[in-house]
Amino acid sequence: MLVKYLAPAVLAIGAASAQSATSTCTVSGGTTTVNSQADATGLANCKTVKGSVVVTKDVAGDFQLTGPQIITGDLKIENNPNINNIGSETLEQIGGEFKLVKTTQLNSINLPKLTSVSKLTWQSIGNPADMGITQLNKVDEVTISDSHLRNIDAINVTSIKSMNLDNNQFITKYEPAIKQITGDLNIHANGLDMEVNFPNLIWAMNLAVSDVSKISFPSLEVVNGSARFDDNKFDSFSFPNLTQTKTGDISFVGNENMQNLTFPKLTQIGGGLLIANNTALEEISGFPLLETVVGAIKLRGNFTEVKFPKLQSVRGAFDLSSTNDVTDSCKALEKMAPSKQGGNGKIEGTFDCESNNKEANQDTSGKTGSGEGTKGGNGSDNKDSSNKDSGAAGLSVNIGLFLAAAGVVAQLLL
Ligand SMILES: *[C@@H]1O[C@H](CO)[C@@H](O)[C@H](O)[C@H]1NC(C)=O
Ligand SMILES: *[C@@H]1O[C@H](CO)[C@@H](O)[C@H](O)[C@H]1NC(C)=O
Ligand SMILES: *[C@@H]1O[C@H](CO)[C@@H](O)[C@H](O)[C@H]1NC(C)=O
Ligand SMILES: *[C@@H]1O[C@H](CO)[C@@H](O)[C@H](O)[C@H]1NC(C)=O
Ligand SMILES: *[C@@H]1O[C@H](CO)[C@@H](O)[C@H](O)[C@H]1NC(C)=O
Ligand SMILES: *[C@@H]1O[C@H](CO)[C@@H](O)[C@H](O)[C@H]1NC(C)=O
Ligand SMILES: *[C@@H]1O[C@H](CO)[C@@H](O)[C@H](O)[C@H]1NC(C)=O
Repeated sequence: MLVKYLAPAVLAIGAASAQSATSTCTVSGGTTTVNSQADATGLANCKTVKGSVVVTKDVAGDFQLTGPQIITGDLKIENNPNINNIGSETLEQIGGEFKLVKTTQLNSINLPKLTSVSKLTWQSIGNPADMGITQLNKVDEVTISDSHLRNIDAINVTSIKSMNLDNNQFITKYEPAIKQITGDLNIHANGLDMEVNFPNLIWAMNLAVSDVSKISFPSLEVVNGSARFDDNKFDSFSFPNLTQTKTGDISFVGNENMQNLTFPKLTQIGGGLLIANNTALEEISGFPLLETVVGAIKLRGNFTEVKFPKLQSVRGAFDLSSTNDVTDSCKALEKMAPSKQGGNGKIEGTFDCESNNKEANQDTSGKTGSGEGTKGGNGSDNKDSSNKDSGAAGLSVNIGLFLAAAGVVAQLLL
């Protein structure tokens, strides 16, 4: 019975009507366990539930939580194959986590008043074709994995801490109004032709996006950490407004259709630059203003031309290998090699530039390959494609440590 979990003060209030919940109910032990719809109805008096609400697998069919406006802790429903609908006409805030995990027969979520959730975690939640969440304007952390959701338009806030979207095979479009991402954005293995647009995003800590067919970040000005795009299907990519990554890498690996890569305003990469195995990309000419690369530059592909007209400083190695002839580009770039290789030293690490290497695309790691990058280890094999299905947690954007470390080590060796 629910009552035994409630503090004595609540017991005294007894039978107020559901329409006018006024009490603050302090859940003893921090969590109240709901085993039935009747248990949930027992919360009808509680305007604020101080604590968490855990709904067990014994709750089947239609579940309504009417009365509470605020749950200060979590609302959790896990490993429940029997629940079909979740609804509340009153719930506005979940101060902790809204967790739905393995609710495989869930058909609808109706929370028309919900405006605020600290952390939203939905994993294997069935097929809630009917998604009645329309007022959500604050959520800090989002993980949506292995769902059959058709869209996640309900997650449309202006600022977010982190977001993981992976293995949601029916999500084909996402265009949120997010302006800043203060942590990590990970998007992987969703619907086949997924299209992702962040029309208002100004800055983001880390971005990692895979398996999308269209993408745009028209207003993004700064990536504070790193930006990583692997195994996508888009045929061109541009960061039209990006001026810098502050501390991390930019990397593009295995985007097989990508013919065009343009960063018209980029002046600084705070980590390294890795472009590898994007076999349709013939020219690297989309970095007209790039001056500083704090880590290494590693380029592997079917290039015929590579140029960085404004490059002033690369602290790590410069390592270019192409399946095609890049002799002319190599001649021009060699002028910036370190002095011990006869250049002007704008590139501080080892300079390597190689044409007609049939194997050029085989090496897609963040290592510089010159030996100097291998110290500082850690994170080198993040580009293991087995990560793709491992859900949100396994995906790291830390390849940068490598490229940045390469720069530091190269300096020490001079
Ligand atoms: C997201 O919100 C903005 C306004 O804040 C709106 O213009 C846009 O249409 C919304 N997107 C979706 C997918 O609902
Ligand atoms: C690009 O950035 C500038 C500021 O550097 C800003 O004024 C402009 O509106 C941005 N463009 C877009 C499309 O957001
Ligand atoms: C990221 O960079 C933006 C733009 O310079 C800045 O406003 C923001 O505070 C930075 N965020 C973090 C977490 O450092
Ligand atoms: C690359 O992008 C530029 C500018 O957006 C465009 O003019 C050009 O046609 C594109 N080239 C290819 C091969 O897509
Ligand atoms: C890239 O180069 C490899 C090795 O020469 C070649 O097998 C492959 O067909 C090329 N791909 C494209 C798209 O040109
Ligand atoms: C290069 O990309 C192709 C797909 O375009 C993929 O099949 C291949 O495994 C990748 N090679 C490496 C070494 O990552
Ligand atoms: C990699 O980094 C993690 C945390 O940053 C650390 O715990 C681990 O020991 C490191 N591994 C190696 C091989 O340096």
